[in-house]
Amino acid sequence: MSNTKTPQPNTPQDEVYLPSAEIIAQANVPNPEAARKEASDNLEAYWARRANELEWYKKWDTVLDDSNKPFYQWYVGGKTNIVLNALDRHVKTWRRNKLALIWEGEKGDVRTFSYHALNREVCKFANVLKSMGVSKGDRVTIYMPRIPETVIAMLATAKIGAVHSVVYGGFSVEALHGRIEDSESKVIITADGGNMNGKKIELKKIVDEALQRTAAPENVVVVKHLGSDVTMEAGRDYWYHELMNLPLTRNGLRCETEVMDAEDPLFILYTSGTTGKPKAILHTHGGYSVGIHATLKDVFDLKEEDRWWCTADPGWITGHSYIVYAPLIAGATSFMYEGAPTFPYPDRWWTMIEKYGITVFYSTPTAIRGLMRFGPSWPNRHDLSSLRLLGSVGEPINPEAWRWFHKNIGKEKCPIMDTWWQTETGMFMLSPMPVMKLKPGSATKPLPGIEADVVNEEGISVADGEEGFLVLKNPWPAMMRTIFKDPERYVSTYWTKFPNMYFVGDSARRDKDGYFWIIGRVDDVIKVSGYRLGTAEIESAFVSHQSVAEAAVIGLPHELKGVAIHAYVILKSGHEGNEQLVEDLRKHIAHELGPIAKPEKIEFVKVLPKTRSGKIMRRVLKARAQGMSEGDISTLEE
Ligand code: PRX
Repeated sequence: MSNTKTPQPNTPQDEVYLPSAEIIAQANVPNPEAARKEASDNLEAYWARRANELEWYKKWDTVLDDSNKPFYQWYVGGKTNIVLNALDRHVKTWRRNKLALIWEGEKGDVRTFSYHALNREVCKFANVLKSMGVSKGDRVTIYMPRIPETVIAMLATAKIGAVHSVVYGGFSVEALHGRIEDSESKVIITADGGNMNGKKIELKKIVDEALQRTAAPENVVVVKHLGSDVTMEAGRDYWYHELMNLPLTRNGLRCETEVMDAEDPLFILYTSGTTGKPKAILHTHGGYSVGIHATLKDVFDLKEEDRWWCTADPGWITGHSYIVYAPLIAGATSFMYEGAPTFPYPDRWWTMIEKYGITVFYSTPTAIRGLMRFGPSWPNRHDLSSLRLLGSVGEPINPEAWRWFHKNIGKEKCPIMDTWWQTETGMFMLSPMPVMKLKPGSATKPLPGIEADVVNEEGISVADGEEGFLVLKNPWPAMMRTIFKDPERYVSTYWTKFPNMYFVGDSARRDKDGYFWIIGRVDDVIKVSGYRLGTAEIESAFVSHQSVAEAAVIGLPHELKGVAIHAYVILKSGHEGNEQLVEDLRKHIAHELGPIAKPEKIEFVKVLPKTRSGKIMRRVLKARAQGMSEGDISTLEE
């Protein structure tokens, strides 16, 4: 049953793919337009209906309270805890015996958890956290490789009403230090290390170094994953397995889930913005649970029999929403893999799709482009017929990668859900649903309840086909509530440029069919391989090197990464810009921020183009680097 394709398209906007009868027959949302109409006719009634798909300790009094814009509140008066829906309600049903999580390590080791088993580990670890004095509202930093304990730690933190701050395991010393300090975490949960592309990433060492730069949290819990040597500081550091094996009288198998207000914080997640200081995006229990549940169900059509694989890392919003919480709320079976897609060979992912019978596979354009390089013979040697739906996230997917993914992985029968969303939005915002017609490279339309538009500098809608700022015109349940400890920055970053509109930070175009095409960031955020990095954060890491006086970084198009970092560096006098220094600086950036922030190219310069007020004109650098005049670069960039 293959998709039909219109013959000989002229432009990507005319190239359309239609779903098969089989896909249509089983869609959770058979009529997206009707769902959109239901939500636009009565937004609150729509989101009340979706909230009723979940269990609550107590239902809300008000669906949406917009009396203090832009500090919207959802399901006010409702009592819940995300763990009530992710675990507690399942272990009371037959699902207690269903697999919640299948995990494979890079070395091929496999671990599985039924809902019952996952709940037991979560209860035990929740008791460990309590015994360390962690209580409702306290922050816990989780800095882990991609292993089941990451999921357990997140759920255990949520269960007792504490707030997790997961820091991506690919980040390094300074990025981790800043995030621990800002969150004022009481406990850090980490591991001796993780396996990535045949190498050991020694996380505990990075934690030790980060903690030398900050007032130490009270405790560090260390999961033994690699079995490598680590230094344990007496009175501060504890082994996870030892804590989990304390006599049952102290750390029992039972732990009551904390009853939370719908609006109580669930987690903070740092993301890069236009200043050097990352923003701690705050999400809550109630609205977030509803939003991620509704969108996963509608977009990826999850069924009880599915085996879902989201290749993201739990350290990013994609992992929070669609590896950990939404799949568990749906009672699904989720697969998680520790390592690199090409280890030991470029068919590692395809091997595991076949081995575990994955049915829905959600990944990124960078990964697809990377695997595409090795040619179709790698996927072709595997039986990928279990796949039903594919997905993409994190950056615009170029039509060539889309077609390759569709043809070689989906065998022309799996629609690709190109989901556009952000750390801030918590849930998918623009995305196809399986019955919709697809155009390679377009995230199609806003989901039900979401009103998106493309506007000019004045906030007025632009004509179809014209480029402008993407904005969101009404609130949604999984929206961020604020920036932790910085509500003014929440208002100024997102709600000030255009009155009553959420400013996304992306430019986009809408075509004659109402399909949205995301172009890219319009602020100083660079999306390297889909990872979000702030220019200011990278520049300040440069300046922390003894040889650097000043630095400016920009993102330039890159075949594989989508965008790559180029740096312009002014050296302090007495330092010579040679190849050795380039290498040293790249190492320094990787050590401070993490390997993802390593610049592609470093150029030593004598001056940097600046405005009269001293602001670096990255736009000018970008234009020069691409051999264009300054006017050729998007006028949207400030
Ligand atoms: O620029 C958009 C891009 O990723 C940004 C959000 O980054 P982050 O908060 O790290 O979240 C990534 C995962 C949800 C957006 O402002 N982006 C995300 N998804 C897409 C995308 N760009 C184009 N198409 C997408 N599907």
